[in-house]
Amino acid sequence: MWTRIRWTVLGCSREGIARFMSCALALAMAVSCQAQSQESTLRLPPVAGLDEYVPIPEDNPLTREKIELGRRLFFDALLSRDRTIACASCHQPARAFSDSARVATGVRGQTRGRNVPTLVNRAWGAAFFWDGRAASLEETVLQPIQNRAEMDLPLPELLRRLRENPDYHRMFVEAFAEAPSGENVARALASYVRTLRSGNSPLDRYRAGDAGALSPQARRGLALFVGKANCSACHIGPNLTDERFHNTGVAAHSGDPGRSRLTGRREDWGAFKTPTLREVARTAPYMHDGRFGTLEQVIEFYDRGGNSNRNLDPELRPLRLAAEDKQSLLAFLQALSGEVEPQRTQTRAGASAAGCEPWSTQPPNAVDVAVTPSASRPYRRPRRAPDFIASVPRIAPRPHNLPASRRRSRRPRRL
Ligand code: HEC
Ligand code: HEC
Repeated sequence: MWTRIRWTVLGCSREGIARFMSCALALAMAVSCQAQSQESTLRLPPVAGLDEYVPIPEDNPLTREKIELGRRLFFDALLSRDRTIACASCHQPARAFSDSARVATGVRGQTRGRNVPTLVNRAWGAAFFWDGRAASLEETVLQPIQNRAEMDLPLPELLRRLRENPDYHRMFVEAFAEAPSGENVARALASYVRTLRSGNSPLDRYRAGDAGALSPQARRGLALFVGKANCSACHIGPNLTDERFHNTGVAAHSGDPGRSRLTGRREDWGAFKTPTLREVARTAPYMHDGRFGTLEQVIEFYDRGGNSNRNLDPELRPLRLAAEDKQSLLAFLQALSGEVEPQRTQTRAGASAAGCEPWSTQPPNAVDVAVTPSASRPYRRPRRAPDFIASVPRIAPRPHNLPASRRRSRRPRRL
């Protein structure tokens, strides 16, 4: 009985005879795998340091056809009114799916007041956009297409373009057994975005037991991150975000109401979603308005205790970090860059030439997936990556730096 068929390019090149056998098996199975893939739910292969469980909505199971269609759409400027801008123009693979501009530039050079966030590990997201105005990836991905300052393409016009294109028409039928619709565009794009994952960073290797993966300076940075600098009050969990909204005072004087535009609550004014810090060294500039060009500036900002305003989060306060502390924090933030899937598959050209994984020959971003027929093995129980915060020796703040009212909040929250 085949309960699980796993065929990756990595498997072909690395591990001798056993792997060779599995490749031969995969080749033998290739025809039947393709035949069954439309009904099968795909399971993404685990990435070191991330939760093994990738939440996938029940009404949009992952399939190869959807991911491939989503990838094609993501890189296609046909999704913008004047056919000049693709999702990938702003979410650039080489910059961990963000870009280098302070704020996003859409069609006709229009700018919006917000910085392009990375898309890595959004499969685990609980709220989307800086103010959390979307609750799922499916809900998120159609917005930039229709947004006048981004791609500015009304949905009916997009669907007309897709239906006229025989390639797209075929791909939609393969993925959904029906012609292009707004819902299916959203499902395909969301499926692709779920495959964009970053893990196996020096931090992850360190946590897995490779003591040399973090430099002594970065290790010190980690102890500060969870201790005196208190970053882990909000940047916590495998993704270094609590997925909640906080007022750090970035927008104290700029007028972006942030979260309060949705909730209407005064206390949410100026609150924004804690972003992941994975790949942060590659996603400059920083903050929802891109105001800081470097991580050094971000660290200075936190050292000041953020920008004071009436809603400032109680976890922020002047830190009085020494120059050496700031350097250590920086070294730690730089150790959060790992491997971004599925780009990694591109480098495995040799193995794919052997014919082991036909999928990975498709540039630029073929996706490396483990195939698990959904009926044979239920995939429900969440398995969380262990919380590294709990086990790290911390550099504690000197108690006299803390007002009594805040001392109790020093312990990092668990997600
Ligand atoms: C003009 C630049 C631009 C284009 C084109 C663009 N985006 Fe974005 N994207 C942004 C900005 C800016 C944000 C943050 C907006 C906000 O929070 O208000 C964002 C946010 C997102 C988010 C939410 C991320 C998070 O962490 O909450 C997703 C998902 C996303 N975009 C996917 C896409 C997809 C899919 C496309 C193509 C259909 C696309 N984007 C096209 C600029 C762009
Ligand atoms: C009170 C919660 C909180 C604490 C504590 C906190 N952060 Fe943040 N962090 C946020 C929020 C919220 C944002 C987004 C703010 C915005 O854009 O307005 C952010 C943004 C960032 C960014 C920018 C990321 C990007 O992609 O733009 C970096 C880097 C960062 N924080 C690092 C740190 C470090 C280092 C510390 C500790 C010194 C820290 N944070 C402490 C909540 C927090």
